[in-house]
Amino acid sequence: MSYPYQIKSFHEYKTEYEKSIEDPAGFWGSIAEHFTWRRKWDEVVNWNFKEPKVEWFKGAKLNITENCLDRYLESRGNQPAIIWEPNDPEEHHRTLTYRKLHEKVCQFAHVLKNNGVKKGDRVCIYMGMIPELAIAVLATARIGAIHSVIFGGFSAQSIADRLEDAQAEYIVTCDGAYRGAKDIPLKSVIDDALIGNKTVKKVIVCTRTRTPVSMLKGRDLWWEEEMKQVEEKGLNYIEAEEMDAEDPLFILYTSGSTGKPKGVVHSCAGYMLFTNYTFVNVFQYQTGQIHFCTADIGWITGHSYIVYGPLSAGATSLMFEGVPTWPDAGRFWDIVDKYKVNILYTAPTAIRSLMGFGLGPLQNKDLSSLKVLGTVGEPINEEAWHWYDEHVGKKKCPIVDTWWQTETGGILISNLAGITPAKPSWATLPLPGVQPILVDEKGNEITEAVDGITSGNLCIKAPWPSIIRTTYGDHERCRVNYFATYENLYFTGDGALKDTEGFYRITGRVDDVLNVSGHRIGTAEVENAINMHAGVVESAVVGYPHDIKGQGIYAYVIYNGTHMDDQSLTRKDILQTVTRVIGPIAKPDKIQFVGGLPKTRSGKIMRRILRKIAEGEVQSLGDTSTLLDPGVVDEIRDGRL
Ligand code: PRX
Repeated sequence: MSYPYQIKSFHEYKTEYEKSIEDPAGFWGSIAEHFTWRRKWDEVVNWNFKEPKVEWFKGAKLNITENCLDRYLESRGNQPAIIWEPNDPEEHHRTLTYRKLHEKVCQFAHVLKNNGVKKGDRVCIYMGMIPELAIAVLATARIGAIHSVIFGGFSAQSIADRLEDAQAEYIVTCDGAYRGAKDIPLKSVIDDALIGNKTVKKVIVCTRTRTPVSMLKGRDLWWEEEMKQVEEKGLNYIEAEEMDAEDPLFILYTSGSTGKPKGVVHSCAGYMLFTNYTFVNVFQYQTGQIHFCTADIGWITGHSYIVYGPLSAGATSLMFEGVPTWPDAGRFWDIVDKYKVNILYTAPTAIRSLMGFGLGPLQNKDLSSLKVLGTVGEPINEEAWHWYDEHVGKKKCPIVDTWWQTETGGILISNLAGITPAKPSWATLPLPGVQPILVDEKGNEITEAVDGITSGNLCIKAPWPSIIRTTYGDHERCRVNYFATYENLYFTGDGALKDTEGFYRITGRVDDVLNVSGHRIGTAEVENAINMHAGVVESAVVGYPHDIKGQGIYAYVIYNGTHMDDQSLTRKDILQTVTRVIGPIAKPDKIQFVGGLPKTRSGKIMRRILRKIAEGEVQSLGDTSTLLDPGVVDEIRDGRL
């Protein structure tokens, strides 16, 4: 199998890029010809960033699962679609061929239908990284329902908020999940999330850990039991629901600088096209190769580059249940060796953490199958880049530094492996169809360079096929968040540099969003959680550089409650509250108790000062004269952790 739209040279990249800008409709229209449609489009693209309204392939009808499964049954039916490596290396791995995956997806689609799920209904999926998670995702899409996958590290409260926001009626979960040495009791978290919930009708529970779970009569059903009924009836096929190109495919919640996480909505056709196109081009996927993306399907990276991108390309996607450091820090290398992985796609935080274990875990591991390495989720520092290049890629594998976001659906800026040049810690060039622009605070394009480098806020001028369509249930929020900061531009929230060759380097968020181990967390969200703790008067949260996580969470807390004599215990109490409200991923690394916070006369917290103190740059705090009480700065600085 070949991909006619796979770019094969730097020259071709340039001509394709130009074509995509001059004639987006012609460019994407001809790529779309290589997919399966029930009906073709009337118009390739129609958009304005004012409302915003973006429509790709209007009038077309399709089902993404026919593109991921049915169309490969004949040519690749016996080839592996998903290879699953369990948490415990002693447990047997599983392989699902395209035929088997198709069958399982159809069967589970029947289960969903039997339980009342209809087109457009929201199905929340809260599972560990087992093949049934991918099956649940695809089965939901098969019948035209909307999946909303929630990462296993979120708390009951976070799930409850998401269920409420999405008005979800169905949940698919597991009894528990294995992650390294831990068992996470997923069903029990769901039970807590459902206290007071009024919308959820059915919960389907897949057995994994066989940890004891409560099963409520009439609401909770076992996955195996439901599947058995379908299998016994021989219901191995289900007609895919015919979807409009712009019908929603899924909702994925992500953090912003204000308020609660928002439900980013992606639609069927554009998302399918762009994840496929970027998968094939960025990683230069060749038929038969094994692609190992280490992300969790609970995040956008897993949606786009474990499930939809690879499967729509007929690829073999390796899915791993566990963590990189269990049973030891050689786990990734064992997996590469065992399955002869060709493409490894991971996060800088994982690389930095593995670097800390030295070269021992790499010894006697055959990594010679690797052809392409990738990183995603946060800026990669040069040291980590070179370690990855030398010790994992043995200097013969191109590294793709892929910049994108939940809202972008797929990779927007990245080198193409072995085709366009790489530059350590630079994401480099935009993909065809992507028009970045750096602007100043007022939205004017920055053209002035210092030593050949321009620096500004990263925006995108025109839509690519998998751009966010709306935030679920609140279109105005989508407009305000992404399209209102600068007129007629999509604002990414990131800052970036651009060099004379037109390469981009992403420097990090310029809003109040943190990136902790590649996970996006809003400072406001963490503050709200801390403020819910009894005795907390006020708090302010900022990020600071962290060797492994990229950014750590630093919280300044005014507390006048009980047990203040034991600060260390009170800190732990506060961490418990954050874990309950958001989940363990949002726990601050440092909590400093303070008497006051630096505020302007109008009552605004001067985060700039708090950030500097957290970063340890106490000499250069800048102008503090506008503060209501400049004295608090000295106190905070002196008490720095
Ligand atoms: O700040 C950028 C950072 O991750 C943010 C998006 O986070 P999320 O929506 O969770 O998606 C992560 C996976 C796509 C961006 O705004 N980011 C992502 N990739 C890179 C990056 N920063 C620098 N370099 C990257 N390659």
